[in-house]
Amino acid sequence: MWAGPLIERKRDGGALASEEWRDLIAAYTAGDVPDYQMSALLMAVFLNGLEPAETAALTGAMLDSGARLRFDHLRTPCVDKHSTGGVGDKVSLVLAPLVASCGVAVPMISGRALGHTGGTLDKLEAIPGFRTALSPGEIQRQVESLACAMIGQSADIAPADRKLYALRDATSTVESVPLIAASIMSKKLAEGISGLVLDIKRGSGAFLPDLETGLELARTMIQLGEDHGCRTVALLTAMDRPLGNACGVALETEEAIAGLRGEAPADLMEVTYALGVEMLLLGGAARTPGEARASLERAVRAGKAADKFRSVVAAQGGNPAVLDDPGLLPQAPEVATYAAPRAGFVAGIEPRVLGKAIVEMGGGRRTMDDAINPAVGFVVATRPGDTVEAGQPLASIYAANAQGIRVGIAALNRAIRIVSETPPPGLPLISHRVTREGVETVA
Ligand code: URA
Repeated sequence: MWAGPLIERKRDGGALASEEWRDLIAAYTAGDVPDYQMSALLMAVFLNGLEPAETAALTGAMLDSGARLRFDHLRTPCVDKHSTGGVGDKVSLVLAPLVASCGVAVPMISGRALGHTGGTLDKLEAIPGFRTALSPGEIQRQVESLACAMIGQSADIAPADRKLYALRDATSTVESVPLIAASIMSKKLAEGISGLVLDIKRGSGAFLPDLETGLELARTMIQLGEDHGCRTVALLTAMDRPLGNACGVALETEEAIAGLRGEAPADLMEVTYALGVEMLLLGGAARTPGEARASLERAVRAGKAADKFRSVVAAQGGNPAVLDDPGLLPQAPEVATYAAPRAGFVAGIEPRVLGKAIVEMGGGRRTMDDAINPAVGFVVATRPGDTVEAGQPLASIYAANAQGIRVGIAALNRAIRIVSETPPPGLPLISHRVTREGVETVA
């Protein structure tokens, strides 16, 4: 297919018709449009945007590029959650088994770490033996038997997105509302879910840091979901500091396991419960937010959430003993303590700086094909607003070697800002709830 005229039209601010998007994406997926032409088109979209009808057509074309899972025969409703990504965001590992233990099925397709942000698949694969590549038949059977599967995007699901996402990553065209919305929703709608909860991160560590763009992304994805009969709700949550204490693949897996028992840092538990409430409401497993929250907390207290994760780990080939012995997770050979260089107030902990340092220490990816060291990262034991003394331990650094420790110390020096006056508060942990009816501010 010769894409020249389509590129010209997008370059000059015009729109493509639905059939043009359909034919272009089908041809690109089949290898009949070269990457250099698609790169030019993506940059034109990045600069000029898409009309709502074009975003819908692009999403539909990407969805149609692959297979769809089907769960209509299940009596349990299927609901999923997606986060736009951040540093320390290990919510999915706690949330999927927790919600599944409360009567809503969760066929969760997740991604890998990229750039400064972490990825759920890597955190799951830190568990010895855990397989994230299941066939559609295996996913189907596991969701039927356990109400939960935690998997990667197979070659069958939205293959157009796989190709496009790698190309966007290499051509600096990721941070575009319509492209992000089409990418995420084409994968999520392929899961055969009837409800979706979006965790839209805002703040300096998010892909799209500012509030207005976050709200625009939420509205765009909600519209795409609702157009396909998938009830979609979004929460806007803070990513101006890491979520929880652990940042880095296996360290986050360990913190998530603690979260299944309710023993993770309060901010991680709070975001997990808030998203879980929305999932239980969408799945019809609770009538009110209060009832949903009580059900989630009961499941944690009674050990049902941890038991569900144990079953999922075992079903996907992982070693379930990791739930009782986190020492089975990959361990860093070098560990050092970072102490406060002076007394004062913690004004901020910059997530991007920590995320980039993890990449430099070998625990993240610059390109999709990079291998990672899951053992490295940080556990930051202080929060913005804390008062600290000079010399007080603030964080631990986990590294592959002495150079990694040096990178970690330099990053913490830049990331943790200590000031002498009481600092202004950070972003509210959960600031907005967006539905098809509109935007509510969360108190
Ligand atoms: N995550 C995705 O799956 N796609 C994007 O475009 C950005 C984040």
